[in-house]
Amino acid sequence: MAHKVVISPINMEFSVEEDNNILNAALAANINLPHSCKNGECSSCLCKISNGDVELMQPYSKTSLTAEMIANGYTLACRAMPKTDVTLDMPGFSNNFPIKMLPTKIESIHKIGTVAIIKLKLPSNQEFQYVPGQYIDIMYEGKARSYSIANGKIKDGCIELHIRYHAEGFFSEIVWHKLAANQIIRIKGPMGSFKLHNCLGKVLLVCTGTGFAPIKAIVEKMIEDNDHRHITLVWGGASVEDFYLPEILLTWQSKLNITIQLCLDSTPLPNYYNGFVTDFIKENFINLSAHEVYACGNPAMIEALSKLASMLELDKQYFYSDSFTLSS
Ligand SMILES: Cc1cc2nc3c(=O)[nH]c(=O)nc-3n(C[C@H](O)[C@H](O)[C@H](O)COP(=O)(O)OP(=O)(O)OC[C@H]3O[C@@H](n4cnc5c(N)ncnc54)[C@H](O)[C@@H]3O)c2cc1C
Ligand code: FES
Repeated sequence: MAHKVVISPINMEFSVEEDNNILNAALAANINLPHSCKNGECSSCLCKISNGDVELMQPYSKTSLTAEMIANGYTLACRAMPKTDVTLDMPGFSNNFPIKMLPTKIESIHKIGTVAIIKLKLPSNQEFQYVPGQYIDIMYEGKARSYSIANGKIKDGCIELHIRYHAEGFFSEIVWHKLAANQIIRIKGPMGSFKLHNCLGKVLLVCTGTGFAPIKAIVEKMIEDNDHRHITLVWGGASVEDFYLPEILLTWQSKLNITIQLCLDSTPLPNYYNGFVTDFIKENFINLSAHEVYACGNPAMIEALSKLASMLELDKQYFYSDSFTLSS
């Protein structure tokens, strides 16, 4: 039996089928409830239930949703299955940029090592707006795969995606062997709530692999906004080719108050830190309490960094993450 979910105070409603969770149903109804990992880890979808009952799907992080939070009416929308009609108390939520399904034309595919940079031309007769840091889903042969938008604003009518090749991955194989310029593919978006905040002054951006994509969008937005807060960017990879846009880093150094460190976790090489991004941060920061931390890419890195950041006295509310969880 389906249950009704009402978002208060804006009175937006959608229905959730038995055995589905609130976040999935909201996204299917084109409502972009705040979220990131979709698997109970990051707490971006934390919300308060003012009326009704839910059952929590396991597993979820007991630090993202503590027993005390549950007792106070909080839940994780990505884990909560309604058992009755439910009202979510979400002051400030507006669904500003509603999720749309759009046909896009592949403008170009440029492969650099194991990363494909794809430009998708948006239809000129439909408006598409997003916040840098958000992602879209590519819909292909009945499956959906999520990719972060890599440009700070739409350029020449296109959004840019950075897609890493995973051997035998469903969409990776399609990108590498089937897609070509001028083909039409459908996207759904924008989605997610990963974005730049302006709370504490110093900005620490941490990414692995194509986790660089939403970071690039955020940095381009900072350039556009003349945002001169101090940024430290720590980018991790397994080989030199994983730092697939080196020339952009040079441009940023001339435009921003930015320190960049590339971390190579394989062979030691001059100019690269030898180790994981978390090793570098452990060695170089004694306290993160004056920082906002943004982490994107590998879920294991994000989990390790979240723990490290807490040890370095970062208040959890200033840790923002975009976890590239694999589709089930
Ligand atoms: C919010 C969000 C944003 C993201 N943004 C990006 C981005 O900007 N760039 C990016 O590159 N990725 C991003 N991702 C990850 C992306 O959505 C896909 O998960 C990724 O591209 C893999 O998709 P795929 O279809 O190629 O692989 P899948 O088919 O989903 O397979 C994933 C992995 O499992 C392996 N596998 C597949 N089948 C089997 C099997 N039968 N047995 C064992 N192993 C198997 C594959 O080799 C592959 O390594 C994001 C994810 C999320 C949630
Ligand atoms: S915990 Fe729900 S989206 Fe991350």
